[in-house]
Amino acid sequence: MTIYLSNEVSNLNSDLRTLTDALRQQHDVVKNEAGDWILLRHADIKAAALDDTRFSSQVSRFLQVPNGLDGHQHRLFREVIERHLSREALSPYLPVFKKIAAELMSSLPKNTALNAVSDIGAVFAVRAQCAWLGWPAALEPKLLQWMRDNHRATRSQNSTKMAQVAQDFDDIILSIIRPLRSSDDLAAADHLTSRLCREQVDGRLLSEAELVSILRNWTGGDLGSIALCVGVIVAFLLQHPQQIGSLSRASDTELEAVIDEILRIDDPFVSNRRVTTCPVTLGQHQLPSGARVQLNWTSANRDSAVFADNTFAPHAHAADNLVYGIGKHVCPGRLLATWQLRIATQALLACTSSITLAPDQSLQREQPPLGGYQNVPVILG
Ligand code: HEM
Repeated sequence: MTIYLSNEVSNLNSDLRTLTDALRQQHDVVKNEAGDWILLRHADIKAAALDDTRFSSQVSRFLQVPNGLDGHQHRLFREVIERHLSREALSPYLPVFKKIAAELMSSLPKNTALNAVSDIGAVFAVRAQCAWLGWPAALEPKLLQWMRDNHRATRSQNSTKMAQVAQDFDDIILSIIRPLRSSDDLAAADHLTSRLCREQVDGRLLSEAELVSILRNWTGGDLGSIALCVGVIVAFLLQHPQQIGSLSRASDTELEAVIDEILRIDDPFVSNRRVTTCPVTLGQHQLPSGARVQLNWTSANRDSAVFADNTFAPHAHAADNLVYGIGKHVCPGRLLATWQLRIATQALLACTSSITLAPDQSLQREQPPLGGYQNVPVILG
């Protein structure tokens, strides 16, 4: 059966979780207005993500490294990327992220309404990513403005606006890598972006287009995800003040497990795309070859067939948690994101005696197709 999502959205008060929870009761797959098949069930989404032969990631006419690649090409670039996202490569940045988080959280005004997504999450994400990539701190206002423009464009689903913000972001990346690549000092420079510029595949340096695509993936998508995740975590703290004490005392690994579970129940990283390479049967549906498919992680992570009534159980649910995906395209930035989110949460808890809802304001959800919150208005005590 075909369901046109836009009608359902207007009926269900614009919360992607409510919408997909309701759809999942009756359908395993729905179709949106653009003709994309949206997979809703944990089992189907997991199976599709693990089946990279019948579900290809080559979904865009634009170069997407490594997320839009399949097979051998994907493996080649994935190896390059994983070198920079391993525990060993990331460990030296832990003190840097801690310093950034502590400085930001202690500088936040008390007794003033703040939006945890834009005033805390976005600022932390930009500062932490700039420090990690070796980008100048002076870029911060430009990146924050870009994040706002990007969200506006995504909300509008207007393809011209979306193409413009994508171009704007590429221009920011080019302003960094062009001088670097043409500089005599590239061999000596020792920050992550310069190391990436020296990387090779098949015995040749990465091209400008490949570098832009990798860096776009590491920043463009990620800054927004980290900011939205911080919003979801702060909203959880707001709604569960009795947990603040135990979370402040939790070990790093305990807190990371709790954050994974918070994000499972309200996953703001909504979906990724695939295209079928042959006819595929999904339940009672026949998807033709070339069908555009969305793996809706937000829905999968709330499926009662796996998570029963969605009680909060970090350890019991860890193995089935799909916040960072599964299969060959599983998020290579998981450790980086996990550390950044845990460090930001620890610094926030250390700097505040209370987190309360700003008077006369309420939590404001993002509009589907986006997940998470647009505004988490808080007063820090
Ligand atoms: C909370 C933050 C994040 C979430 C929830 C998240 C989630 C995901 C998910 C679900 C996928 C699977 C995509 C698919 O199957 O098509 C993915 C892929 C990816 N993520 Fe993340 N991610 C986050 C942060 C990051 C960070 C910090 C980086 C790196 C700096 C990163 C880099 C990537 C890349 C390069 C891919 C594509 C991998 C491939 O195609 O092989 N992510 N992410």
